[in-house]
Amino acid sequence: MKNWNEKRVAIREILAAEAPQEALVAGWVRTVRRGKGVAFIALNDGSCFASLQIVLDEGMEGFDAASQVGTGACLAVRGQVVESPAKGQRWEMQARQVEVLGDADSDYPLQKKRHSFEYLRTIAHLRPRSNTFGAVFRMRSALSFAVHRFFNERGFLYVHTPIITANDCEGAGEMFRVTTLPEQQPPTENGQVDWDKDFFAEKTGLTVSGQLQGELFATAFSDIYTFGPTFRAENSNTSRHAAEFWMIEPEMAFADLADTCDLAEQFLRYLVVYALENCREDLEFFDQRIEKGLIAKLEALAAATFETMTYTEAIERLQKSGRAFEYPVEWGCDLQSEHERYLTEEVVGGPVFVTDYPAGIKAFYMRLNDDEKTVAAMDLLVPRVGEIIGGSQREERLDVLERRMHAFGVAPQSLDWYLDIRRWGTCPHSGFGLGFERFLMYVTGMENIRDVIPFPRTPGNARF
Ligand code: 4AD
Ligand code: MG
Repeated sequence: MKNWNEKRVAIREILAAEAPQEALVAGWVRTVRRGKGVAFIALNDGSCFASLQIVLDEGMEGFDAASQVGTGACLAVRGQVVESPAKGQRWEMQARQVEVLGDADSDYPLQKKRHSFEYLRTIAHLRPRSNTFGAVFRMRSALSFAVHRFFNERGFLYVHTPIITANDCEGAGEMFRVTTLPEQQPPTENGQVDWDKDFFAEKTGLTVSGQLQGELFATAFSDIYTFGPTFRAENSNTSRHAAEFWMIEPEMAFADLADTCDLAEQFLRYLVVYALENCREDLEFFDQRIEKGLIAKLEALAAATFETMTYTEAIERLQKSGRAFEYPVEWGCDLQSEHERYLTEEVVGGPVFVTDYPAGIKAFYMRLNDDEKTVAAMDLLVPRVGEIIGGSQREERLDVLERRMHAFGVAPQSLDWYLDIRRWGTCPHSGFGLGFERFLMYVTGMENIRDVIPFPRTPGNARF
């Protein structure tokens, strides 16, 4: 069937074409309808949301085999693209030759009926072939590209920070261990595992954030970003937490908290506008089937300026709300998801930065404010998802940083290189981290983080 001089044409290009054409297409069967002497196949190759209708006539080469295939089979078809008489599609293909590359029988798990997302997670190897997941993963890809374009247009250096590390950046003790020591009887010293004998001659794990190394690069290249996988062994089985997720972390020298809030706002708006301009067909699907009013919400975000309130104001608003929250609210407490959602959904009705959190509940590296009680931190909260960005101005004063590390029980010798940056040529700097999956939940309307990452890793689940 395949003539190797002939290029397969993506269905996206066929459907967007201005004129009829002769072409070779290939893809997976979504539906088959058989009539008298004719069969109609909806063929999808993932290049766009829509499928191409293929019309097979009795007597053509390969008709018998092709008209008998089941949903999920893989076909290559050569034929003439013609104006379609059917409603809702401009083009269809009149097949001349068809070859079954891979058949699929009636056991194929993705039959035409609608499946729950829970069920589709159990067949994560096949779910990309469904409408919803096709749309999710096309958007994920498009928006990854948009992330790089945003920073590239602004002259940020892209740095690959390490995945294996000896530091717990967030200090939350949620690192996955990386070791080659034997499981049975690892070497010990005074009854404790002797990490000096391990591969890296120290205790290492998977990174929870690229920030610390990002700061090193920001104090050489001024404006940098990382975009990579991040790992957290927090045993929280929520719809917003994954053990492996992707984070985008810009870091800017000569920038304070307000500058980093500005960048976060521009960044989010840029990504949303990019989606509106480049992912229309997929967004329309999400708007109709997943979150009604999604496109209007995104258009509103693109036009809005984000509000800001301090943590202290946020606590006052929560206390005055008259709501019975599950977790009580008082100055000094960490904001829970229910509080975050109340602030962004009820108080503001849109994205809001909450800034200047109590020093005791945020990481050691955040810059201490003049009140000595709060730090120059910010979280960006959005409706439905809650926190999607966490960031701060960093503590650039060596003595204050050492004090903060001491208070948090972070051993200074373990981060001597981080302290060196404050020793030589220190400068004000700041940055943030955007959880890419949380952002995708926001732009697609998908409600579970497991449904915006190709192969989710959550407690008890690392299959596929
Ligand atoms: O607020 P976090 O913990 O901030 C940091 O890691 C900083 N070092 C970032 C920086 O300043 N460079 O995480 C940042 C974002 C959160 O706002 C959230 O969107 C996402 O990462 N995130 C998670 N996403 C999915 N699953 C998890 N378990 C997540 N933990 C954090
Ligand atoms: Mg956070």
